Amino acid sequence: MSYLETTAQFYAEAAETPQEGLCCVSTPPLQLPGLKIPEIMQQMNYGCGSTVHPTELFGEPTVLYIGVGGGIEALQFAYFCRQPGGVIAVDPVIEMREAATRNLQSAAKENGWFNPEFVQILAGDAFALPMPDASVDVVAQNCLFNIFEPEDLQRALSEAYRVLKPGGKLIMSDPIATRPIPPHLQQDERLRALCLSGALSYEDYIQHLIGVGFGQIEIRARRPYRLLDTQNYNLDEPLLLESLDSVSFKVPIPVDGACVFTGKTAIYAGQEAMLDDGAGHLLQRGIPVAVCDKTAANLAKNFPSNLMMITESSWYYSGGGCC
Ligand SMILES: C[S@@+](CC[C@H](N)C(=O)[O-])C[C@H]1O[C@@H](n2cnc3c(N)ncnc32)[C@H](O)[C@@H]1O
Repeated sequence: MSYLETTAQFYAEAAETPQEGLCCVSTPPLQLPGLKIPEIMQQMNYGCGSTVHPTELFGEPTVLYIGVGGGIEALQFAYFCRQPGGVIAVDPVIEMREAATRNLQSAAKENGWFNPEFVQILAGDAFALPMPDASVDVVAQNCLFNIFEPEDLQRALSEAYRVLKPGGKLIMSDPIATRPIPPHLQQDERLRALCLSGALSYEDYIQHLIGVGFGQIEIRARRPYRLLDTQNYNLDEPLLLESLDSVSFKVPIPVDGACVFTGKTAIYAGQEAMLDDGAGHLLQRGIPVAVCDKTAANLAKNFPSNLMMITESSWYYSGGGCC
């Protein structure tokens, strides 16, 4: 069996015998007014972090969700889309599609606003999405792409890019590794399926996104996810995994490189009321301006630190500033 087949088999079992905490959840599920998440969906919450960011979901977007799991995030997206077929969820594992269908029918009994037709569940996989080019506003995946080996990750990201409309958003939540995961763990297919051994470093993860053409990437959260200890994982040193929530925009990559926002700000500390850096950025004295990492680096290089303070990445950016 290939590791992808092992993964599919693993999730077929996880669909038939729900395992709470299978994929360690470090945040409670997003609660919204009038939304009741059935118990079974909470037990089958196999994601890390969240891909449902209310600020990204204005204007009744069409959402393509890859790897439906128990349907918890499909239901949360449907809360915002509220139209038949507004959420299209794709999964190659028939047992998982059936479980999600049952769970969404339970959700309809508990949520007067929800019609199961709001979520269309389709057979398909991340490498061949059953959608035309440039047809959806949002693609989301939670805790699936980290399982893929790098070439497969590149294929899955290219597929997501293909189906997004220009300006559309790829919203992801995945584990990342604070140092390279050793080969003996990477090759363990069960650990990979469990989202414990396929994670890339932060830098590699971002480079994969840029590599398929995303011109702007925004980080929404970065937090500890799991510790792989020395005894159980045969390691010299414990290895911390983090979870990373991101939103990547299908916009052209600027000539000087992609804009990656990690929550840095630039603060002009000179004597003038305003500073024009000559590269399109106007900074008012003493007022923090959100900047992408590229602009932060350029400002730090071009101005002395007593004139320009650059704050650390907060790993939370939700718009504004300049680039
Ligand atoms: C870790 S679970 C995440 C489930 C869901 N996103 C959540 O947050 O609860 C991975 C999901 O991806 C599905 N999956 C496995 N291989 C896939 C593939 N090649 N393409 C799309 N989905 C896949 C599994 O069946 C499972 O539903």
